[in-house]
Formats: sequence, structure tokens, C-alpha cells
Amino acid sequence: MAEKDFEKQVQEGKKIPLLTPYKMGKFELSHRVVLAPLTRLRSFGNVPQPHAILYYSQRTTKGGLLIAEATVISDTARGYPDTPGIWTKEQVEAWKPIVDAVHAKGGIFFCQIWHVGRVSNTSFQPNGQAPISSTDKEIYPQIRSNGIDVAQFSPPRRLTTEEIPLVVNDFRVAARNAIEAGFDGVEIHGAHGYLIEQFMKHKVNDRTDQYGGSLQNRCRFALEVVEAVANEVGPDRVGIRLSPFTAFMEADDSNPEALGLYMAESLNKYRILYCHMVEPRWKPDAENVECPHGLVPMRKAFNGTFIAAGGYELEDGNDAVAENRTDLVAYGRLFLANPDLPKRFEIRAPLNKYIRETFYTRDPVIGYTDYPFLETKI
Ligand SMILES: Cc1cc2nc3c(=O)[nH]c(=O)nc-3n(C[C@H](O)[C@H](O)[C@H](O)COP(=O)(O)O)c2cc1C
Repeated sequence: MAEKDFEKQVQEGKKIPLLTPYKMGKFELSHRVVLAPLTRLRSFGNVPQPHAILYYSQRTTKGGLLIAEATVISDTARGYPDTPGIWTKEQVEAWKPIVDAVHAKGGIFFCQIWHVGRVSNTSFQPNGQAPISSTDKEIYPQIRSNGIDVAQFSPPRRLTTEEIPLVVNDFRVAARNAIEAGFDGVEIHGAHGYLIEQFMKHKVNDRTDQYGGSLQNRCRFALEVVEAVANEVGPDRVGIRLSPFTAFMEADDSNPEALGLYMAESLNKYRILYCHMVEPRWKPDAENVECPHGLVPMRKAFNGTFIAAGGYELEDGNDAVAENRTDLVAYGRLFLANPDLPKRFEIRAPLNKYIRETFYTRDPVIGYTDYPFLETKI
């Protein structure tokens, strides 16, 4: 929508900024409230399950953008139980009815493609081998989000320079498979301390080859993945998620602004559809920290669609769109607990509270598809 029409609609009080249409490449979005990627650990044996049909279709609106949960690209990419995959025929077939259900309601559906790297242990790896990474430094055990269990990580094996193109190729094939499953595009998971960040972030990457050292070298792997995926499925079907400011899984960087800016500028060369960034204020399992407008330089540097995420509610999401700090806002926990989130925003209805204890349980209903819709509540 032209900027003028947007302002007119908002001024006339017809639409809140988040609910104005937006043209993202060839996709006509009817509003700007995006479903953020949300791992739910309910894809038994790495195969998407029929219960995901209801879960995703509940969160679909006509012209709404949904990003599927992080989906592993190969048998070495796993680090959590029961995350969906997209490297076997069975997985591709299992995604199809889920994607079809989203399309039947007019949604636009992207698949987040993911390699965990060293955020894994030998029990998730083929033949009990070591997880792969940019480094051989291991992560200290971490308390899981339930606050009780402790995740153990095995010492990773540093990829040789010659092996890196093979992993790039796994991303490429996964993207092809996602399109084969019917997804409208893919989001490369370049955030939260997983493999791509293990290359990008200075405090993890201790390589001395062309994939380590300078900022350019550390971003080489990420950009090779972007290039391969964009060449495979077309840049107009490719987004990337980045979190330069987070230190999740010990992936920290001494100059996150420079990293974020370098990536935003470099992505322009590949003309990909969107860049999705996580706000610096967002901390996993904690309250937001005060950190105003941290993504604006990256938003300005990137030529495509910009998606911001992390700790957004209705008002600050509206402000971010109205002030042109982002094009779209992705909502995680609020969308998880409110399948009709755009509707609730429209009429300023009260929101269901999310229940953290059921984020990652295996139940195909409880904490998954049983959050009430507005109509059933009143
Ligand atoms: C249950 C849960 C699962 C998540 N899984 C993913 C994921 O698969 N991929 C990802 O990039 N981020 C993941 N995140 C982060 C969210 O996409 C989002 O960025 C984060 O929750 C902050 O947004 P919010 O404040 O709107 O929840 C997850 C967050 C939660 C709470």
C-alpha cells in the first residue's frame, strides 16, 4: 500500500497501523501481525504430525504471514527431541496437509530452516557422533526453559573448510524440499546461537580459515547459505532471521551493531524478500530489558521487507509500524496463546495468558490447540 493511503486509513481511524495491508514482494498481506517461529516439540520422530494442521490453521488469517517452527535440515541438525524435519520424503509429505490447511484459509506460510550446530549432544546425532560447529568449544550445561531440567551438550567437532559447502548444500536442499511441501518460502534461521550464529559471532568463532577472524569472514557462511538458497528457490521466497544482540547459547558478539549492519547491507546484494530481526531488549525466559529502537540502523540499511520481533505488544507494535521502524511485527508468545491475535488487536480485546509450562510438552492438544478463541470465551 502506498504510504499516503496508509496514513489516510490510520488518520481516518479505520485501521490501527498493525492491521493495514502491506505488499511483501509478490505477497499481498492483509495485515502486519506475523506468527513468529515457535518450536513446540510435538513432531514425533522429526515428522510433522496431523495435530499441527489444527494448530497452524487456528493461527491463520486471510493474507496473514505465518512462519513455521524451526525445522531441521538434516540428521546432524537436531538438538532437541521431536522437532520437525524437512530432509526426508516422509517429512515433506507430512508437511503437505499442514501447508494446505494454511493455504485453504488464505495464509502465507514460510518454513524456518534450521541447523543447531553445537547446541546438541551425541544422543541426537547419527551414529552418536559429535555435533558439528564452527568451533570445537563446547557449551556449558544450561537450565532448560522449564527451569528444572538441565540440557547437556557434547563437545562439538569443528567443520573443516572443505566440509562447509556440504552444509550449505543441506540448507539448499531443505529449501527446495520446503517449496516441494507447498510452503510459500523459507526463513533461514540465522539467530539464537545456532549453527549460522556460531560462525557469525565473534565469541564463538575461533577459526583461522576464510570463515573466521574478520567480520566479513565470520559472515561468509551465512551469506553462502543465503546465496545458495536464493539461487535454488528464488530470492523472492527467502527471508532470514538474525539476532545480533542476543547471547543465547553463549553466542555473544563484542560489536553486535556492526554485525547486524554488515549483514543487513550484505543481504541487499542477494535481493532476498525479508530480514527478520530480534530486538536487543528480548531475553529468553525473562522480562524485556530497556533498550529503545535498537534495530533502526539495520531497518534503514536493508532494502527489502523488515520484520521486528521480541517483546512486542499491541501499542508498541503499532508505534513501530506507524513510525516506520519496521514493516511487520512478529509475535511469539502472544500468538501462541491467542490464535485469533489480529482479531483481538482489532477490537482491543483482552488476551489469553500464555502458559510457559506447556510450551514444550508433547501433548497434541493441551497448551497447543486448546487456547480459546474470543467467541468461545464470552
Ligand atoms: C515456545 C517458544 C519457541 C520458540 N521457538 C523459536 C524457533 O523455533 N525459532 C526462532 O527463531 N525463535 C523461536 N522462539 C523465539 C520467538 O520466535 C520470538 O522471537 C520470541 O518469543 C520473542 O517474541 P515474543 O516476545 O513476541 O514472544 C521461540 C520462543 C518461544 C517462547
